[in-house]
Amino acid sequence: MSAFELGAPLPAATAGTDPGFVLRFFDAGNRLPGVRALKPIMLEHLRLHRGQRVLEVGCGTGDDVCTIARRVGPSGHVLGIDASPLAVAEATRRSQGRNLPVTFQVGDARALELPDGAVDRCRAERLLMHAQGEPTALVGEMTRVLRPEGRLVLFELDWDTLAIDGADRALTRRVVRSYSDGVANGCVGRTLPRLLRDAGLRDVETVPHAVEIPFDFFGWVLSGHLDAALTAGSFTPEELICWWDEIDAAHAHGCFYAAILGFVAAGTKPALA
Ligand SMILES: C[S@@+](CC[C@H](N)C(=O)[O-])C[C@H]1O[C@@H](n2cnc3c(N)ncnc32)[C@H](O)[C@@H]1O
Repeated sequence: MSAFELGAPLPAATAGTDPGFVLRFFDAGNRLPGVRALKPIMLEHLRLHRGQRVLEVGCGTGDDVCTIARRVGPSGHVLGIDASPLAVAEATRRSQGRNLPVTFQVGDARALELPDGAVDRCRAERLLMHAQGEPTALVGEMTRVLRPEGRLVLFELDWDTLAIDGADRALTRRVVRSYSDGVANGCVGRTLPRLLRDAGLRDVETVPHAVEIPFDFFGWVLSGHLDAALTAGSFTPEELICWWDEIDAAHAHGCFYAAILGFVAAGTKPALA
């Protein structure tokens, strides 16, 4: 399957022929200051305690799983699942020798191989926006495996909110719209509070959180999609050449800027009546 970072569809040829590229892409995304700043916000909303069983869905290379494992301690356990065997292999490799209570498994968010109420906490970050399956069903599945009074904490970007300064505004709007429509669930960020409430969670809290996208990462994220959009006829070659020229020139003059809004949403599964 394809893997994504910041929701970006990876160029299939590159991702398929260079597994290291995917992992470098994951790491580069996680190094963005806005993504780093997000992690403690999600941790706070998880309200972790020692001894808890925690599930991370779409764990990628597993760094968040290891952070959570240090919080729940040796009497707890953290399971990281991901649909990508490559990500799971890398997460397993990174955790080895660290004496942490973690397990990584290949798995599908659409059908978690866990019984009802199996975990105290569940976390997923940048999963729903590109995961196959309806976000409603995916949130329902994560809620199913939570125990009563367990907490679910999610973060998703909303690609319609991608703000870019540096190029023609009308064309930039088309680029943003095209990119957002190209992500499976490009606007899922704004729907998180509703999704959690519809799943039956209570005390739903939402934290809008912006992520700045530096120039080098911006090119990495957008170029694959725009190449495909060009092939699909959504843009003329002249339009995209002009757009990228303007973006490059803006960067050269210190005038390029890009940022996107995402949303943390957290809720609690009701106690049994
Ligand atoms: C943008 S990465 C984020 C990884 C990690 N949460 C992080 O913050 O570093 C999204 C991950 O979701 C995984 N994924 C996508 N669809 C999935 C599914 N249906 N079930 C499980 N994992 C999935 C991808 O393989 C990828 O590793």
